[in-house]
Amino acid sequence: MKDTLIFGQTLAFQADPFQTPIADAAQTTSHGGVLIRGGKIAAVGDADTLRAQNPTARIIDHGTHLITAGFVDAHMHYPQTAMIASWGKRLIDWLNTYTFPEEARFADPAYAADISARTLDLALAHGTTTLTSFCTIHPASVTAFFDAAEARRMAVVAGKTCMDRNAPDDLRDTAQTAYDDSKTLIAAHHGKGRATYAITPRFSPTSTPDQLAAMGALWAEHPETLMQTHLSEQLDEIDWVRGLYPTARDYLDTYEAHGLLGARGLYGHAIHLEPREIDRLAEVGGAVVHCPTSNTFIGSGLFDMTGLKARQITVGLATDTGGGSSFSMLRTMAAAYEVAQLRGHALHPAQLMWLATEGSARALHMSGQIGSLTVGAAADIAVLDLASTPAIAQRSARAADLWEALFPTLMMGDDRAIAQTYVAGQPVKRQA
Ligand code: GUN
Ligand code: ZN
Repeated sequence: MKDTLIFGQTLAFQADPFQTPIADAAQTTSHGGVLIRGGKIAAVGDADTLRAQNPTARIIDHGTHLITAGFVDAHMHYPQTAMIASWGKRLIDWLNTYTFPEEARFADPAYAADISARTLDLALAHGTTTLTSFCTIHPASVTAFFDAAEARRMAVVAGKTCMDRNAPDDLRDTAQTAYDDSKTLIAAHHGKGRATYAITPRFSPTSTPDQLAAMGALWAEHPETLMQTHLSEQLDEIDWVRGLYPTARDYLDTYEAHGLLGARGLYGHAIHLEPREIDRLAEVGGAVVHCPTSNTFIGSGLFDMTGLKARQITVGLATDTGGGSSFSMLRTMAAAYEVAQLRGHALHPAQLMWLATEGSARALHMSGQIGSLTVGAAADIAVLDLASTPAIAQRSARAADLWEALFPTLMMGDDRAIAQTYVAGQPVKRQA
């Protein structure tokens, strides 16, 4: 296949802008380019230099649009796509009223295939090139999602959601079937093409200690997989966990005691953490995943980005569809900004963009493969139109620098701001 050169403004990160001054962490080039070869990024640099070095490459010129790594959503629930934006409930009632009845529909593999395709296409329309998804208790819901991702050449993370209590009859497995089915799915999917398996106990209230232990044993047998779950999202939930696990020191301890605390663990929400939980996450290197539109939509609380980053805890960013109220990582960055403001901190646009790309990739242990414009990474790329609506255009027209030009798109942009999405080097949103 012929090499492709894409031109535009480029944004690449050399370091974490929470730890390194922005000017050193981020590299921006106003007339930049990315050389794509064999689905991967082969060079990033000045457009004219790249053109001179690669005279036979096909050129796609995005003008003044911003070329960035594709967005990486580090926690979402594809089976909740069709019930996003359901009104009026907090976590436990929301699960019982809206979520579980919808997830029960995934007993039908055809429905799972339909919603998988819909979700992945929505992601691509929003510039998101990697999703990390919970599936349902049905093994076929996992296969449907991995198959739909493979058809789109997307790198995704997913796993069978395991629940053996506090869920409806038709949404419960057992410790043994959860173990057996998850093991079979790991063998079928993990590492095949761009698929990564995450062992997925939904959260401590819907698993017995036996099931958590079975998941912990499976993770120990398959340390190459990720593990995803929920942690300390709402105060009522934490009280419930305390009642269900009376000997646990805290919520994280319900996972720790069953072999489910580790560096390759992804702990969604993590809002109301105890000091011991923060210490353990920092020691072990587990990642927490910030889901800001969900945390405000379901009324969960204000994630402590600054405090957790100061402790060097790995933080990913996520939509948490359909607890989250948007498929867009732009809207998710806006919500992360707003939540941080309510805690007294203004996140820089570079920090928001880093979280939505490399930050999430680090949480998934896929840094260098996805989430960055670096040589050797997959050419999973989003191209942003920084003037996609009249409201955004009139504000960005006044910008003094790229960050000021970008920020209105982060705050007000939606899928109209995604001029193009590339997956493994192929344009997938619009005809090139
Ligand atoms: N906690 C357990 N399950 C869920 C879920 O599906 N969404 C959210 N937001 N929190 C959860
Ligand atoms: Zn979730």
